Amino acid sequence: MATAVPDGTTGYEAALDVLNSLNTRAEAVRLGDQKARDAMIADCFSLIAKLETPSETFIRTMWTHLMHPAIWRIASDMKLFEALGTDDSPKTVDQLATTTATDPVLTRKVLQNLAAAHVVTEVDVNTFTPTTLSNSLAQQMWIEALELFVPFTNLVTVKTPAYLKERNFRMPTDILDTPGQYAHGGKGEWNMQEMIVRNGHVQGLASLMKVWLDKRPHWSDEKSGFYPVRERLIKGANDSSEAVFMVDVGGSRGHDFLRLFSHVSPDEIPGRLIVQDQPPVVASIADGSLPSKVEKMAYDFFTPQPVQGARVYFMHNIIHNFPDAEAKSILKQIVAAMKKGYSKLLLWDMVLPDKGAGVNACCLDWVMMTYYASSERTETQWRRLLEDPELGLKITDIVHFSQYDQDVIELEIA
Ligand SMILES: C[S@@+](CC[C@H](N)C(=O)[O-])C[C@H]1O[C@@H](n2cnc3c(N)ncnc32)[C@H](O)[C@@H]1O
Repeated sequence: MATAVPDGTTGYEAALDVLNSLNTRAEAVRLGDQKARDAMIADCFSLIAKLETPSETFIRTMWTHLMHPAIWRIASDMKLFEALGTDDSPKTVDQLATTTATDPVLTRKVLQNLAAAHVVTEVDVNTFTPTTLSNSLAQQMWIEALELFVPFTNLVTVKTPAYLKERNFRMPTDILDTPGQYAHGGKGEWNMQEMIVRNGHVQGLASLMKVWLDKRPHWSDEKSGFYPVRERLIKGANDSSEAVFMVDVGGSRGHDFLRLFSHVSPDEIPGRLIVQDQPPVVASIADGSLPSKVEKMAYDFFTPQPVQGARVYFMHNIIHNFPDAEAKSILKQIVAAMKKGYSKLLLWDMVLPDKGAGVNACCLDWVMMTYYASSERTETQWRRLLEDPELGLKITDIVHFSQYDQDVIELEIA
């Protein structure tokens, strides 16, 4: 006889509805529809929520959500992901412990946990194969991103409840006094961006930005139906070799240009391209890592923008790092450089819906609050900030792709 379903789940009828929705979307996903795939992932999380009891959800959340990052970091430090190799040949615990020169008992514990979390596959007793995820985690870029999280930024999350309790649950409002400084020191002295640099995580942040976009549609991916680069930006751009087509302000090591080039060839783009960032970040751009067409420029975006009258000023993941007052200071520098009727400002940032924001977006909102006293803004909050008459900008479009992606906010001089 079947065992009874425990009390406390929202209901199996509701779960069946989600299953039907999954089935309906499956064909579209098979045909390559990215948005349908995103919706399926959201459905899967909703399915778990409908099937689990509160106790099951509690235990899963409390035990796994902190343990997994720690174990991924341990495996990464042990070079276990590399040792698993990229082919599908099974490896035993003893083989892997020998390759990594680590304790076989610990190696097994790590692998067992990774297998339970679907990071590796347990094909037989004490025998494992890699997955596409573990292959990714073996890559340098992912290793560096993991090092930024564990323990550096994760410590901020752990300390946030105490920070908020001590302040009677008032929102952080000072970028120099957030849970970031509470966890790492530097209160009143450095913002989290500066602390990331000071703590040696320049590379980690740059890598995280790339990992985040890995295999996600880029804003310039016209074919997937994202932003129409040719129609809105290239058409009508000044094609003199001296004119600047696009400045990526706070562009890290220029990876957004590289992704742009995978959709629009550099030859199609008229004029110059410039990536600007803090001096240590610009200095860390390896020679030859960017096409010669991209110029590097050390620049502090709180100071006057040296590039006047570009066709596009692009900022990705910048404004969400700052509360409104600082955001306005940055934007004013760009507005002063823009040419009315010609220049466009593109912000690629989250625009949260007023209802039904996705879980990743909501957690990113907490990251912004706890690191920068900022937030992922709703459309209402964006409009309040960007259409403040003090700036002299107007929003000409907001291009939304999916709940997993940031939206392109297109602006011109009002
Ligand atoms: C969150 S990262 C975003 C990087 C890139 N735009 C992306 O989305 O991948 C923020 C970037 O802003 C840069 N940054 C921070 N403060 C800056 C400043 N005052 N002037 C110029 N760049 C700055 C950081 O070095 C970092 O590369």
